[in-house]
Amino acid sequence: MATEIAENVYWVGVVDWALRHFHGYELSTPRGSTYNSYLVVDEKTVLVDTVWGPFADDLVANVREVVDPAAIDIVVANHAESDHSGGLPAVMRHCPKATVVVSKRGAESVPGHYHQNWNFKAVATGDRINIGKHELAFVEAPMLHWPDSMFTYLAGENVLMPNDAFGQHYATAGRFNDEVDQFELYEEALRYYANILTPFSDLVIKKIDEVLSLNLAVDVIAPSHGVIWRDNPLQIVEKYKEWASQVPEPSAVILYDTMWQGTRHMAEAVGAGLAAEGVPYKIFFGPTADRNQVLTEVFRAKAIIIGSPTVNRRYISTLGTYLEDLRGLGFKNKIGAAFGSYGWSGEAVKVLEEQLKSCKIELAAPGVRAKWQPTADDLAACAALGRDVARAVKGK
Ligand code: FEO
Repeated sequence: MATEIAENVYWVGVVDWALRHFHGYELSTPRGSTYNSYLVVDEKTVLVDTVWGPFADDLVANVREVVDPAAIDIVVANHAESDHSGGLPAVMRHCPKATVVVSKRGAESVPGHYHQNWNFKAVATGDRINIGKHELAFVEAPMLHWPDSMFTYLAGENVLMPNDAFGQHYATAGRFNDEVDQFELYEEALRYYANILTPFSDLVIKKIDEVLSLNLAVDVIAPSHGVIWRDNPLQIVEKYKEWASQVPEPSAVILYDTMWQGTRHMAEAVGAGLAAEGVPYKIFFGPTADRNQVLTEVFRAKAIIIGSPTVNRRYISTLGTYLEDLRGLGFKNKIGAAFGSYGWSGEAVKVLEEQLKSCKIELAAPGVRAKWQPTADDLAACAALGRDVARAVKGK
């Protein structure tokens, strides 16, 4: 159902309550998502972004509640990823002569997805298009989060449409930030930042400073996923600056897998050591944990402590995806340590320590190994490791 978000500006997107994974396994979405598309009705009719392809008919039906889709003059494709451009072919069948506005890099990626001879117009930062009473202005936002990403600003109504930036995978009945549960909203906004945008944190700070330096009035921030920020919209901009600075909380995450419970007992002993020093921690069992939740908690925490039994002279493979993500996301300002039980050769702790170092996570204490099931002394060593890491977390 179309929803007016500013005068003659309508949300015509789709709420996907059922989505649980994005790009297959890459990103879990326990609260679903939305694909936000915005219709601006002025002397020219403009559609900013579309929806994921399977929902294209819903988008067209929502547009039809406001205008005949054939009346669309301009379609802005801020970013080529299919969750936002997938509805383009269906929309363009209604308005084949419409101009498709893309960023310079979008001039490569959008045609590359659809191979259609649409009337493309590439824009750069500072370019404007007059649509009647209002103007559209464009700001390229490369690597937030693709090279083609772009923000579109509707002057006059002061609506910033920054595509993926400031979004959340969050399906809700309310369209606006003041209509939803604030804890859930920020949990999803942080999960989105930590798992998608962390590698580009330096660019996030630069881009935010650049946009703020333009002194644009911003009454509404309308991202391409989740709710629209209309109540104190700059609150999410401030949060992004805070998250982009990657200053961790004084807490720890323990991540482990176990074969016969020995490494689990060690994980709990490490936790007891952290608690003895007053450092809060969470323990995650790698094989069944939500990977993106674990990564979000690691993003928040100062320390990541990983435990694994030795299997085939390495750590157990279930932890491999976590380590790949830690390397890819490149979290800053982290410390870590490793532990694990073993039966024969016992390499896991050493290999884990090498992995942590290769992720630029500084080792805060020597690893602890236990042969077969851990003894009382082994568990005491684990608790000591927890205390050592806790003191490092506290900077002592
Ligand atoms: Fe980069 Fe929401 O797609």
